[in-house]
Order: sequence, then C-alpha cells, then structure tokens
Amino acid sequence: MAKYIVRKSDPLRGQVEISGSKNAVLPIMSAALLTEEKCTILDAPALKDVEIMCRLLEDLGSEVSQDLENNIVEIETKEISTHIASHELVKKMRASILVMGPLLARTGKARIALPGGCAIGDRPVELHFKGLRALGADINVDGAGVVRASADSLKGANIYLDFPSVGATENIIMAASMADGTTIIENAAQEPEIVDLATFLNKMGAKIKGAGTDTIKIEGVSVLRGAKHNVIPDRIEAGTFMVAAAITRGAILIKNVLPDHVKPVIAKLKECGVEVEATDEDVIVRGDVNPLISTDIKTLPYPGFPTDMQSQFMAMLTTAEGSSIVIETVFENRYMHVRELNRMGAHIKTEDRCAIIEGKAKLKGSQVVATDLRAGAAVVLAGLVAEGETEISEIYHIERGYEDFADKIRSLGGKIEKVED
Ligand code: EPZ
Repeated sequence: MAKYIVRKSDPLRGQVEISGSKNAVLPIMSAALLTEEKCTILDAPALKDVEIMCRLLEDLGSEVSQDLENNIVEIETKEISTHIASHELVKKMRASILVMGPLLARTGKARIALPGGCAIGDRPVELHFKGLRALGADINVDGAGVVRASADSLKGANIYLDFPSVGATENIIMAASMADGTTIIENAAQEPEIVDLATFLNKMGAKIKGAGTDTIKIEGVSVLRGAKHNVIPDRIEAGTFMVAAAITRGAILIKNVLPDHVKPVIAKLKECGVEVEATDEDVIVRGDVNPLISTDIKTLPYPGFPTDMQSQFMAMLTTAEGSSIVIETVFENRYMHVRELNRMGAHIKTEDRCAIIEGKAKLKGSQVVATDLRAGAAVVLAGLVAEGETEISEIYHIERGYEDFADKIRSLGGKIEKVED
C-alpha cells in the first residue's frame, strides 16, 4: 500500500489552482441518468470517486468517457440496462446511493446495497427513503441490507427533512425533477453543491427554484435533455490549502475559488489572526503576519462552519496560542484524527461531540494513519510542521478526494513524497 512521507517544511509559499468539486460532480454525474442525451461535465476532478461513479454508470447502461487530462466526463444513457447497482462499487463509495433517485425517475425501479457506515459515522439514509416514499416510491431493505425501491409513477409532494441532509436533498431533487406535479422540500440542505446540481438540472430542462435556501420548489417535467456544465470549484480543497498557509505560517494565493463558498472558513481564520484577502475568484491567505491564536469551532450545515473542514482546522489549532474548543454537530464520530494528532504530540481531549485542544503543541514526526479523507488531509498538514518525518498510511482515502494533493503541496514548497510500501 502506498504511503506519504512528510517532513518538516518551510512556510508554504506560492499559488495553487483548486480543482472541481468532488461533492458537486458526483450528484451531477448521477443526474445525467435522467436523460437519453449526452451530458458533458467540465472541470470534473480526476479522482478515484469520479472513476468509481463512471464505472457505476457504465454498469447501469451509460456510455461514459473520462478525459483525465482535460477534466472532462461525458455521459450518454440511451437506455438503462439494469436498475441494479453493483454491490462491489457501492461498497467502495457511499455516494452511490445518489443513483437511487434518477433510477426511480427513469425506470421506476432501483436496487442498491446500503452503503453502510464508515469511519465518521453509521451514515443512515432514512431521510432519502422518507423523501422518495413521499413521491410515491415503495422502498424496502432486505435482510442483506439491499434496498429495493419501485414506483409505478412519481408524484410531486411536500417533504420536510428532519435534518438538512445533503444527499437526501439531492436524491429528492433528482427524482422530483421528473415527477408529476410540484414538490416542495422544506428544511433542505443549502450547500453550494445543491445549487450546482440544480443549475445543471435546470440546464437539462428541469424547473427548480430556491436551491441554496431551505425551501426548494421543483415542478416535474416529462423529459430532460442533455447539457454541458462546468462544475464549481471544490470549497473544501480550497479551505484545506487556506489552512495549509495558516499552519505553516506561510502565504498562498489560492486560485479558482468562489469566496462566498468559503466565508465561514475565512471568518474563522481571521479570528485566528490569519490575514485573508478575497477577490471574485481568488483568495490570498497569509499566516506569516500575526501570531496564530486559538478560537472555537462548531460545525453546522451550510452556511455554518463545514464539518469537512473540522479535522484540518483542528490540526492547525494544536499549534495556536491558547486552547480551543471544537463541537462536531453533523457527524457522530468525526474525531478519528484526534488519536493520530495526539500520537504526533498534540494534546486533544474529546468527550462525545466536543474536543478540547491545548495550543502550542510541539508536534513530532510519527507513523500515523489517514482514517478518512479529511482526517488524512489533517495529518498531512500536521506533518508539514512536525519535527522530523511523518509516515502516513492508508492514503487512498486522501487520493479519493484531493486531485494531485502531494504535487500541489510540493509546488508550494512542502516536503511530501509518495512511496509504495
Ligand atoms: C455529504 O455527505 C458529503 N458527501 C460529505 O462530504 C459531507 O460531510 C456531508 O454531505 C455534510 O456536509 C458528498 O457530498 C458525496 P448528509 P452526505 O446526508 O450527503 C445524517 C467529504 O469529506 N443523516 O448531509 O452523506 C448523517 O448520518 C464527505 O467530502 C441521517 O441521519 O451527508 C450525518 O450525521 C464526508 N439520515 C448527517 O446527517 C439520512 O438519511 C449529515 O449527512 C441522511 C443523513
């Protein structure tokens, strides 16, 4: 298995180009199932998760081409050959559940193995079922954890989400786009990735209003057409490099980022004494001006502080002046990185959803594990400032969600290399 070797580095300096958003491209690729015509997705990041989604769509009958060089994915689904999503692929990527809405809308059937839990939580999907059942689907889960869904037809409905689940909002929007009548989703997720999905669907001929707010109205249509779409930049990759500038006390120009999408991260970095200057598509982050001071973080659904930035921020806060408190309200087990950071000399205590981080830790290189995607990014950032050498295993988690992560860090002066075990 491949590993990263990360060594104490000088403050990162230079500029980095942010790739297209993983969490926008995956639902958009799934939405391409809703039309017989070709969909062209531009700025699609060359990630393992995108490759798995390509394979999954091919299994369902799509013709898919992935141009890694130019970040283009083309999907054409003249007809769906099966409504059964391959268990092998679903096991590899939880986001496979996002084909359920489109399969129901296009074929009236879907059979998908429950994705199951992962490092950060058991990841239930009952809100997906609640929304799709409201639209008329009959959904059962058998003893083997396989979801069997069917619907003679889908009818618009009023749906209230108990929690603004991103995936549930996406599945419901995609199914409702071709239902008879109007659907209203209340307490909908407001993430930018929801807006990007709705923008793509509206280009296909859907009639969606209110994406980005907590109430989304969808008027069903009978046919959707092919469309071309540029995926939004990845706000979490951008946030990760913003924190990289802060933790290494460096200065980075982050190109291709929508500042509005990283407002909570900018606000929190400023609270820590980091200088941040935003134009309409770039952000300059300077960790080399003021001392880094502690702050408190509470993760919330968008537009609150993103849970996907919690572990990277925690790594940074271990080196700040003063203690910090982090409260993780979105996932029930998103502190797997704490043990790894403490192994590197951090002083973090957790109690249920709360973590207390002592500042001014003298981090030292150690052997650590990337327990999940964002936790992996966090230990890489910590390794850049830890004395000596940090060996990070299970880096496939990181490479699923960050395009050319090690290359981009090296281009900023970071000492990181990938070695085969
Ligand atoms: C999306 O996951 C993202 N993944 C996650 O990013 C992100 O952390 C999450 O949204 C929250 O922003 C993709 O977009 C592919 P949720 P999703 O449904 O849709 C609970 C990353 O690092 N819940 O909003 O699975 C759930 O257990 C990944 O890029 C239910 O209880 O997130 C969790 O505690 C990690 N019932 C919370 O809601 C449901 O039916 C948030 O889940 C659905 C969710």
